[in-house]
Amino acid sequence: MAIRLGDEAPNFKAKTTLGEIDFHEFLGDSWGILFSHPADFTPVCTTELGRTALLQQEFENRNVKVLAISVDPLDKHQQWVGDINETQHCFVDFPIIADENREVATLYDMIHPNASATLTVRSLFIIGPDKKIKLFITYPASTGRNFVEVLRVIDSLQLTAKHSVATPADWKHGEDVIVVPAVSTEDAIKKFPKGVNIVKPYLRYTPQPE
Ligand code: BEZ
Repeated sequence: MAIRLGDEAPNFKAKTTLGEIDFHEFLGDSWGILFSHPADFTPVCTTELGRTALLQQEFENRNVKVLAISVDPLDKHQQWVGDINETQHCFVDFPIIADENREVATLYDMIHPNASATLTVRSLFIIGPDKKIKLFITYPASTGRNFVEVLRVIDSLQLTAKHSVATPADWKHGEDVIVVPAVSTEDAIKKFPKGVNIVKPYLRYTPQPE
């Protein structure tokens, strides 16, 4: 069955480049990213994993644990990590699942038969500390994902989780945010001491709360 926003992220046990994991235990109280790539020793995937490794400190700053997956075996993953580190000038220190039996890929609907009968597409799930699915995106094999955008979305999700705000189109960390419709203007004025800019009764901005 398809996974939808708000669903609990299905748990699983898997072999990874850093040993066996239980997904929910691996996440603990952190946010999580589970992302698939089609195959080892392929060019776009090499850049994506390298980029993720180079942004590892940014993920840690946001309390996000990263977990990659493809349907290739562990020994292949391990050889390929050497290539990624060499060519992308990084150090991959997040685990990569070896999902040869496609168990996790099937659980997360990462194989789209009309794109490829056997390989995973580029799916990415963001999971909250409550283990609920907060976001998913799916890209075709030929398009590498934008990991700065992934960080931007995490910033937005984390802000929304703490305050009654949403983020407008193209929002970036530090810019004004939107008061959610569920909060009355009267309450918003009390709740957001930095001020509320009422453009329309339904369109109210406030400076980013933190
Ligand atoms: C890649 O990662 O470069 C790739 C993988 C499968 C199809 C196309 C590109």
